[in-house]
Amino acid sequence: VSLKPFNTFGIDVTAKSYIDITDVKQLSVYLKENSSKELFILGGGSNMLLTKDIEDPVLHINIKGIDIVEENKNSVKVKAMAGENWHDFVLWSLNKNFGGIENLSLIPGNIGTAPIQNIGAYGVELKDVFVSCEAIEIKTQRIKTFTKKDCQFGYRESIFKQDLRGKYIITSVTLTLTRINHRLNLDYGAIKNQLEFIGIVQPTIQDVSKAVIKIRQSKLPDPSKIGNSGSFFKNPVISKEAFNELKNNFKDVPFYQISESKVKVPAGWLIEKAGFKGKRFGNYGVHKKQALVLVNYGEAKGSDIYNLATLIKTTIQRLFNIKIETEVNIL
Ligand code: EPU
Repeated sequence: VSLKPFNTFGIDVTAKSYIDITDVKQLSVYLKENSSKELFILGGGSNMLLTKDIEDPVLHINIKGIDIVEENKNSVKVKAMAGENWHDFVLWSLNKNFGGIENLSLIPGNIGTAPIQNIGAYGVELKDVFVSCEAIEIKTQRIKTFTKKDCQFGYRESIFKQDLRGKYIITSVTLTLTRINHRLNLDYGAIKNQLEFIGIVQPTIQDVSKAVIKIRQSKLPDPSKIGNSGSFFKNPVISKEAFNELKNNFKDVPFYQISESKVKVPAGWLIEKAGFKGKRFGNYGVHKKQALVLVNYGEAKGSDIYNLATLIKTTIQRLFNIKIETEVNIL
C-alpha cells in the first residue's frame, strides 16, 4: 500500500501491511493478537516526514464520532474520537456556536494526534480547552484516562512525545467549549488587522475563525496542492544574553518574551535571514511565503527533505549560534 494519500507531505513510501482501525474494540483485539510486533501508528499524517518504506504493520487510527458528554448554560464538554479530522471538528463546533478553538482553525491533522504536540496557533493551544483524553496502552491494552495535568503539556510538547513515546494510542479527546460569553483571543496582531480590514468591530467566534483561515491561507501552503507538514521546526527559546547578542547584530529581529530570562525567536525569520526562503531544489524546497515550512512540489523523497532540513539547521547554528529543533517527526 502506498502511504502517499495518508501523509500531508505527500511522500510516496510503501507499507507492507495496512490496517484500517475503525473502533476501539477492533484496536484492542488487534493489539492483543500482535503484541510481539512493532507497529507503526498513523493518525492524520500531518506531522511526519516519511524517509523510507515501512516494514511494520501500519495501523491507521480512523475511529469516528463526536458526542456532547456534559452541558450546562455556560459550557459543554465534547468528546471526539481520534480519527475525526481536526478542522472538521472546529467547523462542527462553530456551527453549534461552541467557542474556544476558533483560533485553531485549519490546522491539519486529526483529533487523536492533537494532544501529542499540543497543537497551537494565534495565541491558543489545545491545552487551553483540554479536559482529558483516553488512550490504550499498546502492551497491555488497558485503557487509561489522562487528565490535563497528566499530559504535561508544553510548547509543542506533551508526555506522549517524551516518557510515553510509542507506548499509548490516543483513542478520544474531551474538550471544554463555551456556549455563551466566548472569550475571544485577539492578541495576535494579524487577527486584529484582518478583522479591521473586513470592517468587523464586534467579532463573533465565526468571524475569528474566518480571519484565521484567511491568514493561514495567505502564508501556509494547502497540503492538498503542495505537500507539507506546517512548521518544520520549532521556534527556538534562547537565553536573554544570547538574545541581546543576536539583537546587537540584527536590530530587526522579532521575538516573544516568554519569561524574565527566556526569549523565543521565530525560526522562520532566522531561516529567511539565512537566505533559504523560497529556495527551490527541484522537487522540494522552502515555502515562498513562510520560511518555516518545507514543501514537496511533487515527487520529492523524504530523505531529500531531511537533508535540506539538516542543511538549514547547521546553517542557522553557524550564522546565529542557535540550535533549532524539528517539530515534525522524522520516520
Ligand atoms: N517571519 C519571517 N520570515 C518568515 C516567516 C516568519 O521573518 O519566512 C517572521 C514574521 O514576520 C513574524 C514572525 O516571524 O514576525 C512570526 O511569524 P508567524 O506569525 O508566521 O508565526 P511563526 O512563529 O512562524 C508559529 C507556529 C505556527 C502558527 C503561527 C501562528 C511554531 C513552530 N509555529 O509560527 O504553527 O500557525 O505561529 O500562531 O510555533 C505549525 O505548528 O505547523 C504552525 C503552522
